[in-house]
Amino acid sequence: MSDELQRGLEGVLVAESDLSYIDGEVGELQYRGYPIEDLARNATFEEVLYLLWHGELPDRDALAAFSESLAAEHAVDDAVIETLERLVEADERPMAALRTAVSQLSASDPEPDADPEDFEASLRKGRRITAKIPTILAAFDRLRQGKEPLEPREDLSYAGNFLYMLTGAEPDDVSEETFDMALTLHADHGFNASTFTSIVIGSTMADLYSSVTGGIGALSGPLHGGANQDVMEMLFEIDESDKDPVQWAKDARNDGVRIPGWGHRVYKTKDPRAKILQGKLEDLAAASGGSKWLDYTTEIEAYLTDEGLVEKGIAPNVDFYSGSVYDHLGIPMDLYTPIFAMSRAGGWIAHVVEYQEDNRLIRPLSRYTGPRDQEVTPIDER
Ligand code: ACO
Repeated sequence: MSDELQRGLEGVLVAESDLSYIDGEVGELQYRGYPIEDLARNATFEEVLYLLWHGELPDRDALAAFSESLAAEHAVDDAVIETLERLVEADERPMAALRTAVSQLSASDPEPDADPEDFEASLRKGRRITAKIPTILAAFDRLRQGKEPLEPREDLSYAGNFLYMLTGAEPDDVSEETFDMALTLHADHGFNASTFTSIVIGSTMADLYSSVTGGIGALSGPLHGGANQDVMEMLFEIDESDKDPVQWAKDARNDGVRIPGWGHRVYKTKDPRAKILQGKLEDLAAASGGSKWLDYTTEIEAYLTDEGLVEKGIAPNVDFYSGSVYDHLGIPMDLYTPIFAMSRAGGWIAHVVEYQEDNRLIRPLSRYTGPRDQEVTPIDER
């Protein structure tokens, strides 16, 4: 056993997985051997979920049955809506509301006593959770605007139904396809912090509700999923300031501020998902005639590249362009990270089930650095 300390588990290999292949040096991502660019172009989010959970891309019949079973699970209990009402009254943040509501979903699981080693039952739980996350988020957003939540629509796609429940209108094809693609891009990414959190929980053979709830907590932080909202806040801040984007980035660098949406523990070059989203942003900007966010992000990227950041291995990650895309779709900024969770839940579930199939309790060590053999002085004598 090595006693060398690996802070942040950086570079430590802890498991084998068939789910996502990442080459951080060249900027490559594949789900089960399919390049992310190909999946983004040619597969829907439902197909990607099927791929992650069942190991292969579905044919038409399998996809129809899978999509139907997912859509049939969208509805949530009144008790969950009541919880969301209370959270809105308490001014809770969407990511925390999602965490609380997902935890509550186990109360209405129709198979509460399923054997943790019954992996088919686990995948059914995973399907219920994944189906209900859009309903929770859309209901929360409507409740906080004083509106009634909308019933989910089983005839729409996963992406289309979420946009419908959020806005009250059926989305146009471009919005639905764009959102669907964003879900595909975020669905899985190796042993990132939130996936690893879910797996650690799953390694105790706890149920998927616990794993997904934990994953949401881990994803909420600004070093992980929270960065997509931070990028958009940065763009609005630039817009409201008297600085141009390059001056803003220059000042941020001088102040030692980390640029949100830049840098990645694994990618040492531009994240392939960022490239795809940048392309989508270019399409949306051209179609809408509003290229402000595209201009700002492109100018910042050019400046930071000139400054040598990319050469040093600090390059745009998936979050640098996702917020601008969501803004074009009219999605509120504080839902960006919850949307990430909506998609990544698919990856968490796939990883937990894969890990549990050959389970080993995750229990690392820490080196104790505190004092030893101290004597307890009675409280009145301290
Ligand atoms: N802007 C400027 N400099 C940066 C940035 C950044 N965004 N990220 C890293 N650096 C610099 C650090 O200051 C450090 O420089 P130094 O060696 O001179 O001190 C060097 O790069 C290495 O940084 P680390 O913190 O060691 O890199 P780590 O792998 O731990 O960090 C992380 C990865 C947390 C993602 C980091 O790049 C960061 O904070 N980025 C901004 C937040 C962000 O975009 N998070 C989303 C990540 S993608 C995702 O989770 C979906």
